[in-house]
Amino acid sequence: MQRFTNPRDIYHGKGALEALKTFEGKRAVICVGGGSMKRFGFLDKAKSYLEEAGMEVKVFEGIESDPSVETVMKGAAFMQEFEPDWIVAIGGGSPIDAAKAMWIKYEYPETTFEDMCKIFGLPKLRTKAHFCAVSSTSGTATEVTAFSIITDYEKGIKFPIADFEITPDVAIVDPELAETMPKKLVAHTGMDALTHAIEAYVSTANSEFTDADAIHAIEMIQKDLVPSYNEDMEARDSMHTAQCLAGIAFSSGLLGIVHSMAHKTGAVFADYGAHIIHGAANAMYLPKVIAFNAKDETAKKRYGVIADYMNLEGANDDEKVASLIKFVRGLNDQLNIPHCIKNYGADSYPTEQGFVPEEVFLERLSDIAANALLDACTGSNPRQPSQEEMEKLLKCCYYDTEVDF
Ligand SMILES: NC(=O)c1ccc[n+]([C@@H]2O[C@H](COP(=O)([O-])OP(=O)(O)OC[C@H]3O[C@@H](n4cnc5c(N)ncnc54)[C@H](O)[C@@H]3O)[C@@H](O)[C@H]2O)c1
Ligand SMILES: [Zn+2]
Repeated sequence: MQRFTNPRDIYHGKGALEALKTFEGKRAVICVGGGSMKRFGFLDKAKSYLEEAGMEVKVFEGIESDPSVETVMKGAAFMQEFEPDWIVAIGGGSPIDAAKAMWIKYEYPETTFEDMCKIFGLPKLRTKAHFCAVSSTSGTATEVTAFSIITDYEKGIKFPIADFEITPDVAIVDPELAETMPKKLVAHTGMDALTHAIEAYVSTANSEFTDADAIHAIEMIQKDLVPSYNEDMEARDSMHTAQCLAGIAFSSGLLGIVHSMAHKTGAVFADYGAHIIHGAANAMYLPKVIAFNAKDETAKKRYGVIADYMNLEGANDDEKVASLIKFVRGLNDQLNIPHCIKNYGADSYPTEQGFVPEEVFLERLSDIAANALLDACTGSNPRQPSQEEMEKLLKCCYYDTEVDF
């Protein structure tokens, strides 16, 4: 038996934020990030819509990018005091993910972060509050997914919380919020969305229900990501829908080892001054993983189907896989994303000497590989790597060398 779970309601299209006016409840907490939603007026709008609906509204501000366990605990304490019956998270993946974890802790104050990370092991939520997610980036699709990614900075590791309990009740996919994204964010979140759709399509948990969403998302992203990056606002709006479709695909169809590696490399070099941004990590690792997974016959066929839908060249599946890899690498070039960690600058742009020194990478390689194997996304990857293969794959991601194993 498989399960396909989505929010009860998805409000989409320009002006969808106004759906907040129809919510019923006494108290709503709005969770936001570092300031972009306030700066562009969306926070005030959301607050006034909820007040129009007759609710008392408080704002929990300042959720950082790649949110920490500490922020989650602070937000949950805020909620315990205010006792909201609606949690409305507005922003990119970071504030929405943090708010999901706060929600768990608010409903079950005795829960530890460790408890939350038990995959599909959460208790029943919605005894205190319902959850609405309003996304402002076009990538993570956390507004429709059963996941939340929280970083444990002591360990330098991102942990996924995964359970359909944290699939939001309501998702608001209003493209107006995405129009203010700077180019770099468009590039990174767009490549994240493409990775979600491709990984979900070849995942061992795929189904007809998730395939339909994944393929349509891939077609839309192929058409719209580069124009969106080049400030075409119609394409930007379309990308906001595409990333949500990719989210619907991977929330039930799951992901693969591109994400396992991105989760385990993202924060692990933070002591060298930067993060490898989630979407950029995916963009660099995706071509390597396609080559690795294509050694599995079923996965190879499915990459071939993707290439067919994209009208890429190839007389057989091997050629189609090569075309798909070439296409992804071409996108990275157009979006100013490097091809490997070695060339990943602290500002995320390609550079001769990236911020992760070779000797540090090699020193940490074995631990990173072991952690990536344990990541929740590894189980549904079409080909199960050994520790040795994972290390080799990570090396290819560092040096941009060919995957021939
Ligand atoms: N839950 C999931 O299913 C899932 C999936 C993939 C990634 N993630 C996680 O999500 C996080 C990344 O989220 P993200 O890529 O959306 O970025 P983000 O939420 O970290 O935001 C990045 C920056 O963009 C700014 N910003 C957001 N929206 C904006 C807008 N419309 N205009 C201008 N600035 C804006 C923010 O203020 C912030 O400074 C990572 O922690 C990643 O691991 C979660
Ligand atoms: Zn992702």
